[in-house]
Amino acid sequence: MCGIVAYIGHKNAQPLLMEGLKRLEYRGYDSAGMAVIGDDLQMTRAVGRVSVLEDLLEREPLTGSIGIAHTRWATHGEVTEANAHPHRDDRIGVAIIHNGTIENYASLKTYLQERGHEFVSETDTEVLAMLISELYDEANGGLETAVQSALREVRGAYAIAVVCEKEPGTLVAARKGSPLIVGVGDKEFIVASDASAIVAHTTQVFELDDYQVCKLTEDSFRTSTLENISVTPQIRQLEIDLEQIELGDFDTFMMKEIFEQPDSLRRTMLGRIKRDEGSVVLGGVLKFARDLVRARQVLLTGQGTAYNAAMVGQYLMEDLAKIPAKVEYASELRYRNPIIQDGTVLVAVSQSGETADTLAALREARERGAMTMGVVNVVGSSIARSTDAGVYLRVGPEIGVASTKAFTGQLMVMAMLALFTGRRRFLSVESCAELMGELERVPEMIERILEQNDSIREVAARYAERENWLFLGRGYNYPVAMEGALKLKEISYIHAEGMPAAEIKHGPIALINDGMPAVFIANKGPQYDKVMLNIEQVKSRGGRIIAVATEGDTEITKHAAPEDVFWIPQISDPLSPLLTVVPLQLLACHAAMIRGHDVDKPRNLAKSVTVE
Ligand code: F6R
Repeated sequence: MCGIVAYIGHKNAQPLLMEGLKRLEYRGYDSAGMAVIGDDLQMTRAVGRVSVLEDLLEREPLTGSIGIAHTRWATHGEVTEANAHPHRDDRIGVAIIHNGTIENYASLKTYLQERGHEFVSETDTEVLAMLISELYDEANGGLETAVQSALREVRGAYAIAVVCEKEPGTLVAARKGSPLIVGVGDKEFIVASDASAIVAHTTQVFELDDYQVCKLTEDSFRTSTLENISVTPQIRQLEIDLEQIELGDFDTFMMKEIFEQPDSLRRTMLGRIKRDEGSVVLGGVLKFARDLVRARQVLLTGQGTAYNAAMVGQYLMEDLAKIPAKVEYASELRYRNPIIQDGTVLVAVSQSGETADTLAALREARERGAMTMGVVNVVGSSIARSTDAGVYLRVGPEIGVASTKAFTGQLMVMAMLALFTGRRRFLSVESCAELMGELERVPEMIERILEQNDSIREVAARYAERENWLFLGRGYNYPVAMEGALKLKEISYIHAEGMPAAEIKHGPIALINDGMPAVFIANKGPQYDKVMLNIEQVKSRGGRIIAVATEGDTEITKHAAPEDVFWIPQISDPLSPLLTVVPLQLLACHAAMIRGHDVDKPRNLAKSVTVE
């Protein structure tokens, strides 16, 4: 989604803002722009990559030490320079960048047109610029008051940064529903929608809450409500470092993050697994352990990859904790008028903690009386701040648009949550300790899978030209089949479907034609024999079998060519998704690169989907 970076301080703003924009590129965008105030307000915008904007700015630099910059992912209006941010008013030199959507922009626009304002774009953001300008009164609070007043008129979601030619020493930021962080430096501030644009400059930050406005000058800040009541934000230390958001020896963030998984999962488990006692320590849940243990239903929700992880979570909660569990897309749950009985625990799964549908579903369930829990990666994100309890993934910043290390982090947290609850219900110390021992070995098992990178690349090369693929699994590995298909389609633009292996007989088998790749997750688990039957059904119709199988399985190579098998170490079925997904991540990444795509910037996709 869109990205915001703004600067006020003593340095030249342009290079700093440009660096911020580059760090935000991973979020997905289609145009970019920058405005800087020096002697006057200067602005440059461009359609396409940030590098196009950079070229323009190299030829004609913007000078000044206060500025705003933006990457836009179109919502209102086409991808054109006129629709790119910043947007300006037509009177006093207001410039604004905005993430989110203003729902009542049409009626506001009519009102402003009646007052003589002339619009040049189709965006809701330009309406905000004009409204701020209309309400600006130098003698009465200036820009800060104008922003507060304008936002009181607005319905929708926003994170904004605003400057005004009339107040060249002021930057005003505000948020409702879209994240915004303020980095506090030495006589300088950086405001951004994402910590990655801040961390190179300072690690002291505070988040704005919904309906808060922050007025910044070079050496002071003031945070207030829309009604101008002062609030004191909590300054905290950012827990990410620069190395985590840089490529290092890798060509792409996606590949880097796939290879990071052994370490990221070690961090997820650190201090949380007490194998000798057969107990899991989850600090963010402890206060609500009784609610969880006595829950009558666990409802898990998320979108995309997070939904696939939540599906595994559903199985784990029923299997290990013996609590009825259900998974539902957040976008459906929020509008479906769901029955939330007394004793419902809602688990919201999200890497970013900002996904609009997941946040809304969580709020809906909370209103209806559910106890809410977050399984989130980004510390301090909206979902993390809106839940009663939660467990952070601790996998570090995920920059690759295709989620990889967050998925395995979510699976790991879900397994720990099921053990935490199960141990307090029916699971014995011994059964818990046994599964914990396996969890602790997962990082080194993934290291073994990663050693097959070259052979997985060869498989990708053999089939990368095929335009239709199937991913099939059963039980715990049905969600992994969904995830394998999602990974392939989002970065390689190959059509892929993931489904329960037995489902093919009910229609999709008609798709199978000569040489169509069918990826089976065929680990040694309770449904192994059934998966073999499904493999034969596909093979006998000309499908080409690619399999994920357990080391030492001699049967599988009778059904799939040995060079088309990816091997995983032996592991209990409930934990197998932690391993089976890894070769599928590599397969998708290689297929996309072989097809010549930029895996970190897939077309049309955004890292964090903060709009409906
Ligand atoms: C796929 C992917 C998306 C996200 C989804 C939810 O690789 O990244 O499907 O999983 O948009 O995002 P979060 O987890 O941030 O809520």
